[in-house]
Amino acid sequence: MFKQEIVVSTRNINHYFGKKSLRSQILFDINLVIKSGEIVIMSGPSGSGKTTLLTLIGGLRSVQEGNLKFLDWELHGASNEKLVQIRRQIGYIFQAHNLLDFLTARQNVQMSLELQKNLSYRQARLKSEAMLHAVKLGHRVNYYPTHLSGGQKQRVAIARALVSQPKLVLADEPTAALDSKSGREVVEIMQLLAKEQQCAILMVTHDNRVLDIADKIIHIEDGRIIKEELF
Ligand SMILES: Nc1ncnc2c1ncn2[C@@H]1O[C@H](COP(=O)(O)OP(=O)(O)O)[C@@H](O)[C@H]1O
Ligand SMILES: [Mg+2]
Repeated sequence: MFKQEIVVSTRNINHYFGKKSLRSQILFDINLVIKSGEIVIMSGPSGSGKTTLLTLIGGLRSVQEGNLKFLDWELHGASNEKLVQIRRQIGYIFQAHNLLDFLTARQNVQMSLELQKNLSYRQARLKSEAMLHAVKLGHRVNYYPTHLSGGQKQRVAIARALVSQPKLVLADEPTAALDSKSGREVVEIMQLLAKEQQCAILMVTHDNRVLDIADKIIHIEDGRIIKEELF
């Protein structure tokens, strides 16, 4: 068995939007722990603060109150440089796939390896192709996104997020734009790769059809964690 390490831990995270009299609290006392290889699903009504929490954990916005640790780094008070460094170790998958239309599937995936200095172009290319095979797109390596279906594009996005073997993948409603069959395929591939690479996944979803892949489900309402279920 793999030794599970703590990838993310938060302590009493509070978050506010707006200034002065318009300031309102969006997140309240968020405490959570995510371990390597763990698939955590965050579920809750629209507007409950899921994306805000995900972007805080991803170092995409500054922590205002409380502590947030990613591996050995504290994000509260971290410099911009540090945040950039941290972001490079996290894979992101959004609802819209955000692929670049003028690059092929392989080139889109390969882009996330460009910052790895110890990797030659050839190695990066082979790695990207292998990753596309892993998401069952070996036959679409040289296709442009406009010639791929929604589910295929989302699988390219998964390959792009996972090719650099990040310790953490953050996914915000990755199946929202997909039919149920493609949505299912997409999350099953994420699950398989997470277990293989021992990477942690935090996924926001409303999609009841995919909840069974979770090791833990966090229910959030009005900015508070109201229930945590472990499986
Ligand atoms: N940049 C922002 N400025 C002000 N309010 C925001 C901003 N982003 C989100 N909000 C508000 O914060 C609350 C939580 O939003 P969000 O985290 O996007 O919820 P969810 O992802 O669960 O739908 C909502 O009431 C939303 O209107
Ligand atoms: Mg959201």
